[in-house]
Amino acid sequence: MSDLSRREVLSAGAALALLGGLAGSDRLFAAERPALPIPPEVRADAAGEIALKAQPGQQTFFPGMVTPTQGINGPYLGPAVRVRRGEKVTMSVTNGLTDDITMHWHGLKIPGHDDGGPYNAIKPGGTWTPTLSIEQPAATCWFHPHFYPTTAEQVIMGLAGLFIIDDEESVALGLPSRWGVDDIPLILQDRRFNADGSFFHRFNLMAVTMGYVGDKMLVNGAHYPVAQTAQGWIRLRLLNGSNARGYRLALSDDRSFYVVASDGGLLEAPVALKELMLAAGERYEILVDARDGKAFDLVTRPVTQLGMNLPPFHEEVPLVTLRPNAAEGTGQLPDALVKLPALVDDLPAVSQNLVMDMLRDEEGMGAVKASGLMKMDMSGTFDTNVAAAVTKMIVEGPAFSLKDQLSSNAVNGASFEMGVVPYGAALQKELRWKISEGNDRMLHPVHIHGCQYRIRSLDGKPPAPHMAGWKDTVPISGGGSCEIQVRFDHPAAKETPFMAHCHILEHEDSGMMTSFSVG
Ligand code: C2O
Ligand code: CU
Ligand code: CU
Repeated sequence: MSDLSRREVLSAGAALALLGGLAGSDRLFAAERPALPIPPEVRADAAGEIALKAQPGQQTFFPGMVTPTQGINGPYLGPAVRVRRGEKVTMSVTNGLTDDITMHWHGLKIPGHDDGGPYNAIKPGGTWTPTLSIEQPAATCWFHPHFYPTTAEQVIMGLAGLFIIDDEESVALGLPSRWGVDDIPLILQDRRFNADGSFFHRFNLMAVTMGYVGDKMLVNGAHYPVAQTAQGWIRLRLLNGSNARGYRLALSDDRSFYVVASDGGLLEAPVALKELMLAAGERYEILVDARDGKAFDLVTRPVTQLGMNLPPFHEEVPLVTLRPNAAEGTGQLPDALVKLPALVDDLPAVSQNLVMDMLRDEEGMGAVKASGLMKMDMSGTFDTNVAAAVTKMIVEGPAFSLKDQLSSNAVNGASFEMGVVPYGAALQKELRWKISEGNDRMLHPVHIHGCQYRIRSLDGKPPAPHMAGWKDTVPISGGGSCEIQVRFDHPAAKETPFMAHCHILEHEDSGMMTSFSVG
C-alpha cells in the first residue's frame, strides 16, 4: 500500500472514530491491523517428547516488505511449550540452520548439562535431546539460543518461544486460563529494518554500549496487532523478548492492572499497579478487568534507559489493542495467590559478587555525550537533530572486529571466554549473592541460570511488592545494586556450567557474562 492510501485509511479511521464513537485506541480500521498471533501450545506426546526445530523462514511484518527470519517449528518465534510440575519431558531440539545454536530454557531449575547454555552446542543438522524434570511451581518461562557470541543475532532473527509450567495450585486459583481467549501471551520485541526488508543488526560501539535499538515494535511477531479477547478478567503473560529495550508499560485509559506472577511464578497476592517496568528477559503476568467490554491498548511510555527514547519511543507507543468483545470470561482475580517461603534470617555473608562492567564505557559514553543524547534525555525535551545524530551512529557506526566485540564488556573485570574455569557455588544451600555495576550507571537486567531467586534488597531497599516473588532476572541501573537469596537445587559440572549475565544480549555477546559450576 502506498503512503498516500495509508494516510487516507488513517484519516477515514479517525473520522469513523469520531462518528461512531469507537474507542480512541481504534485509530485504524480493523482490516488494516494484523490480528495478534497466538503461539500454538505444544505438549509432550505419548512418548513424553516435544520436538522443536530451528529453521529458516520469511515473514511480511509490513505490507510490501519481505523479511528473512528464523523460527522454531515456524517462520518466526516458536510455539508455547506447556508442561506440568512433576512431568518429565524430553526436548528434541533439531538445528535446521547453517550455524551452530544452543537452546536454553530460561527460568528452569534443571542441571547444567540440560540447561542449553553456550557449551550445549547443536551443530547444523544435529539434534539435542535433554530430558527435563519439571520440579518447580507454575511460571511463564521461555527458551532461546545461547551460543557465544551469536545469541543477540539469533534472537533478532526470531529464535525464541514461551515455556509455560502449570501446577495444581495455579489451576485451582481459577485465573483466566483459556489460551488466546482470556490468557494472552505477549512477546514484546523491538526491531529495526534494513531497506531490503531484512532485520538490522550490527555490532558496533553503540551496540556494545546501549544494546540493540529498534524503531518498530513487534508483539508476537506482528506490528501493533489487535486481539479479540473474552469480556471479563484477562490475563496477559508479558515477556520482554527484546535484545535490550526496557518498557514502561501501562494501559491506554490508565486503568489499574494486577500483577499476579513474576519470572518464576505466582506472587503471594495480586499487586495493583498503573505502570510496570519490564526489562529484557523479564516476565510478569498481569490481570486486567475488562468486564466493561471497552477496548484498550497496552502502551509503553518513555523510559530513562539510555538510547531508548529515540523516535517513536520519545512518546507513548501503543503495542497491542485488546478488544474484549468475545464471549464472557470466567476467570477470576483471587485475593490471595500462593504462599512463598519466608526469607532466611541467618543467610551467610555474600559468597559471590557479580559486577557488570562496561570496558568501553569512556569511549561509548563519550560518543553518546558528544551527541547531546544524555542532555536531551535529562532535560526531557526532544531534539530532532540529536535523535538523527545518534541514529546515524547506531546504523552507520563501523562494525567491530570480533576481537573488539568480545573485549567490550565484562563481569568482575573479565570478559567471558569459552573454556575459562568457572566460579564454584554450593549445591542445595541458601546463598547470598550481590549484583552490582561498575561506573556506567546503565541498565543491566542480570540473569542467573539454574535457579529462581528472591530479591532481599534492591538499591538498599526492600523490593517493590511485585518484585518480591521468584525472580531470575533483576534490573539494576543508576549505580544500583541488588542482594539476592539464591539456591541451586541441581549440579552443573565445570564442562557445562551455569551462566550469569546481563540480558541485554549485545552486552552478553560482548563479554558481560560469567560462568559457575554447582556442587
Ligand atoms: Cu535468557 Cu542466559 O538467558
Ligand atoms: Cu537463562
Ligand atoms: Cu548490560
